Amino acid sequence: MTEYIKNVAVKNPDLSVDDGEEDNFILIIENLKVYFELRKRGIQHAGFVRAVDGVDLKLRRGETIAIVGESGCGKTSLMKTILRINTPTGGTITFDGEIINDLKSNDLKNLRRKIGFVQQDPYGALAPFMDVQTIIEEPLKINGVKDRNERYERVRQALEEVRLTPVEDFLKKFPHQLSGGQQQRVVIARAMILNPILLVADEPVSMLDASVRVEILKLLRTLQEEHNLAVIYITHDLATVRYFSEFIYVMYAGQVIEKAPESQLINETAHPYSHALLAATSDPDPKNVDEFQEVPAGEPPSLVAPPAGCRFHPRCDQMISGLCDVKRPSEFDLGNKHTVACWLFKDRPVVYDFETPES
Ligand SMILES: Nc1ncnc2c1ncn2[C@@H]1O[C@H](COP(=O)(O)OP(=O)(O)OP(=O)(O)O)[C@@H](O)[C@H]1O
Ligand code: SF4
Ligand SMILES: [Mg+2]
Repeated sequence: MTEYIKNVAVKNPDLSVDDGEEDNFILIIENLKVYFELRKRGIQHAGFVRAVDGVDLKLRRGETIAIVGESGCGKTSLMKTILRINTPTGGTITFDGEIINDLKSNDLKNLRRKIGFVQQDPYGALAPFMDVQTIIEEPLKINGVKDRNERYERVRQALEEVRLTPVEDFLKKFPHQLSGGQQQRVVIARAMILNPILLVADEPVSMLDASVRVEILKLLRTLQEEHNLAVIYITHDLATVRYFSEFIYVMYAGQVIEKAPESQLINETAHPYSHALLAATSDPDPKNVDEFQEVPAGEPPSLVAPPAGCRFHPRCDQMISGLCDVKRPSEFDLGNKHTVACWLFKDRPVVYDFETPES
């Protein structure tokens, strides 16, 4: 047995991730697949990019989860599918009690009213020709808030909540007149203006100066607590997760390979890829920003023709030949709501047996 196994405590093997309280979940994702078709010369089918390939995820009102993984592992594709910007290829997404796979027009508008969205690049997210007031009140107009005074009051309140004060100093400014951190605060104010029940933040601080990253993460945390928001925080950097996520999903090549409560995953890391990711984290605190960290060695695999068996096996120094390169690892229960998809843990109870090799 390896040191990975020794490091993982099995404290409560009877506790599974799903405790059966279905009614409390606002988001249930089951076996979600999001494939993008590739075409040669624009017409001939040339395969699929399997950006999300069999993901399960559950989220309750007021809970915060982080989805962590390196570039290209499918985080944004997953997020865009929850917002129904992408259409699922397979599986189901149930949001607020309703399956959203096939929603159209008005129902989609209603869905997006309930989900706030903060993306990576604040400047790209803001129309350069609109001032702050126009940007933040736009969702109110689209959703039928006709009273101009009501809109003004709600914009003021949103700016106060994201600490862009005095409000008068910001209402008439254009995006290029704001710093990156201030722009991201405007994006957050716009995401919050319709009182969503879920906030999806896709790498919200990765394009910001180190000096403002922690402030923005703390602001998101405050808003989450004050509004009892569910939050999905997407990041490539495990170090930023501790600022507000209760539960971590680690993604690799379109699949979730480990999930656990935050401290459990950080302190009792099981999957070799999560170990590599953790070793590669950078501290968002500006005091520690000079400590350069290596990314996990090797390249992420092609999502058009992913490796057989465990998708991490070409990069894994723990690889068990004849097993890891042949059969997709089952999901094993490590106790304490901690599961891992890795053959190193094959003596643990199986939570889920995946189908074996996809073509
Ligand atoms: N609309 C699309 N058409 C074709 N391929 C796509 C499309 N959107 C994403 N992809 C591909 O899907 C894979 C996953 O991309 P995605 O943007 O979800 O990754 P990510 O984890 O968000 O990466 P990053 O950390 O760099 O933002 C990539 O190979 C990407 O090229
Ligand atoms: S299943 Fe095998 S190749 Fe994959 S992470 Fe575990 S040990 Fe490494
Ligand atoms: Mg992304």
